[in-house]
Amino acid sequence: MLLIALLCCCLHLLSVLSLLAKFQPTLRSSVLAYGKLSETADRPTSKLSLWISQQTVPKAWFSHFYWIGFLFALWCDLEVGLLLWKHEKGPIVSLLAHFDTPDFANTQPAIICLLSLCLITLHIGRRLYEVNIVQRPSRQARMNITHYFIGIGFYGSMVFAAWLEGAANLGVWESSSQPITLLDTHQLLRPHVIFAIILFAYASWHQYVCHRILANIRMKARPSTSAASSSIYQIPRGDWFERVVCPHYLADILIYVSLCILNRLQNLTLLAGLLWTIINLSVTAGETERWYRKSFGSKYANTFVRGRWIVLPGIY
Ligand SMILES: NC(=O)c1ccc[n+]([C@@H]2O[C@H](COP(=O)([O-])OP(=O)(O)OC[C@H]3O[C@@H](n4cnc5c(N)ncnc54)[C@H](OP(=O)(O)O)[C@@H]3O)[C@@H](O)[C@H]2O)c1
Repeated sequence: MLLIALLCCCLHLLSVLSLLAKFQPTLRSSVLAYGKLSETADRPTSKLSLWISQQTVPKAWFSHFYWIGFLFALWCDLEVGLLLWKHEKGPIVSLLAHFDTPDFANTQPAIICLLSLCLITLHIGRRLYEVNIVQRPSRQARMNITHYFIGIGFYGSMVFAAWLEGAANLGVWESSSQPITLLDTHQLLRPHVIFAIILFAYASWHQYVCHRILANIRMKARPSTSAASSSIYQIPRGDWFERVVCPHYLADILIYVSLCILNRLQNLTLLAGLLWTIINLSVTAGETERWYRKSFGSKYANTFVRGRWIVLPGIY
């Protein structure tokens, strides 16, 4: 319960801060923009916002989120597997059993926790593959150090979110003499579970395709002119880019929607993660649209004469 409450509070706080960053001038000019968006971001107006805006790390360090998240997810897979099939408690499970309480940790069946954990491991593993093999991050793109720590914390909390709210059903607070937890595999045939798995696969595929489209732009950029942003950034075309400004963000949101559906919209930590993802990526997508308009002017307007949704078709 304590860890669930802590994670939910942190995620909700981040959602509020993300919204504040859009409207509060100091935050807006210091931490909101990253990567290419810094080119068109508001200039810092105070010494404080200038100092905060200068605390940056390479944006290519996004890969650290996925390295750390993936290793942590594999470790949790191992601990949950040991708990279910051997009744042995690893260090994380032992700490939970000792310091936390089982309240609110029995809302999800064990099999759903296991499936959610597998899906989040797959998601972070695919992102790890993409950032290292598919994507072509630019050397000059940077992000504020706050983004770096938030990114690491976010993926860690989503790995926890996948199984924490069913931790009591997994046997975290049971003694090793109690019978091994039986997995109710019939749960896997429920319509919402099948729908969630299909949505997860569909959104994952489109996110991969969109990242490949962005990477292909980079591969076509001539090395001699790679320092000029006009050559390394172009207007992406194809797949969901025809209808949405940031379709890779839309796919990310749909992936968390699918995990929430899998947990019958009753997993508070996943719901808090989804809310943060929607707010954070909608704010960034809005800035991205502004960046495209400023960077490509009439060329951009003429490319999509019918306009595009920013990130959520039919809504924003
Ligand atoms: N769940 C969350 O809260 C959360 C938060 C942030 C990101 N994410 C996910 O992480 C993924 C990456 O996010 P991001 O913010 O880094 O996306 P991004 O800014 O669109 O960048 C993705 C990659 O495409 C390149 N790129 C972007 N626009 C381009 C253009 N017009 N022409 C050529 N290349 C372009 C970028 O180059 P540079 O290296 O030059 O930037 C980068 O390598 C997304 O799918 C997103 O959903 C999730």
